[in-house]
Amino acid sequence: MKNIYKNSSLNLARAKKILVKNNIIGLPTETVYGLAGNAYSNNAVKKIYKLKKRPRINPLIIHYYNLRLLKKDAFLSEKFLKLYKKFSPGPLTYILKKRENSKISSLANANLKTIAVRFPQNRIIRKLLCNLKFPLAIPSANLSSAVSPVCSNDVLDEFGKKLSFILDGGKCKIGLESTVVNLNKKIQILRPGAISAKEINKILREKVYFSNKSNKVISPGMTKKHYSPGIPIELNSKKMDDKAACIVFGKRYNTQKNIFNLSKKGSLEEAARNLYKTLRKIKKKGFKKIKVVKIPKSRIGIAINDRLKKAAN
Ligand code: TXA
Ligand code: MG
Repeated sequence: MKNIYKNSSLNLARAKKILVKNNIIGLPTETVYGLAGNAYSNNAVKKIYKLKKRPRINPLIIHYYNLRLLKKDAFLSEKFLKLYKKFSPGPLTYILKKRENSKISSLANANLKTIAVRFPQNRIIRKLLCNLKFPLAIPSANLSSAVSPVCSNDVLDEFGKKLSFILDGGKCKIGLESTVVNLNKKIQILRPGAISAKEINKILREKVYFSNKSNKVISPGMTKKHYSPGIPIELNSKKMDDKAACIVFGKRYNTQKNIFNLSKKGSLEEAARNLYKTLRKIKKKGFKKIKVVKIPKSRIGIAINDRLKKAAN
């Protein structure tokens, strides 16, 4: 496909050129594919919101190579530095206080006093970030409230000709968006992901809270409906149904046309990797209803359940 470019130094140079001109590209991260633009440019950030049809009150995550540029954009607290040392680069996003003289476009963080920052681990995006003089604003590369993309073809599915450059990096290693942790006042998980509250608690030795609906103020974008395949979803189903697409987990299920197993061997990591791909597949096959069995609520299972609940909303 013409819009998809494989990982090569020539294509990385092309990607850089597009970004320097404040245009946007699709690219891989270890969590999900993203839609990237210069975070210092209002113009680039505007293009991201427009292409995604994302409400401008929903702020974007700013992606950095390391602390060098970040120091100028945000205050680096001790708690942040402890977590950074342990988990970055990786699937953890931190909410930090923004510096007043930061060059980050205020559109990118929806005019808040904070910014969300992440240091992605994927080799391809790191090569790119390392060569840029600005950080990248990168939301997931899907239309607002739809399912996130986990391969370059998913990105093409979302935007078609409207996005002329997608850097290919194969399948995403994790397959679910990063954990978002707020480090201002109490420690709070705003979005669960591959890095669990337990792991964060182990490093900070402080109670880690989970957000509920009342986090609207700090994270205006955490709308309830999200990750939606556009088909009704029933959760914790006990009875399978011949007409519905049934999403299951573990070895005790038959292979059948309407049964989609997230992980036969019962691995939550594998299930996370397969979740969005499965939702996309079911939609393409034209099923009108989805049933999902109970999925264990431990480790990344917490994030899987979070996304399913939002998809079902
Ligand atoms: O894994 C990921 O984080 C992916 C990849 C591409 O890096 N990105 C991603 O971005 O999931 P997005 O835009 O789909 O989700 C960003 C989340 C939203 O829930 C948003 O509300 C929250 O981060 N967020 C961004 N800035 C915030 C802020 N200043 N305070 C609170 N929440 C914020
Ligand atoms: Mg998203």
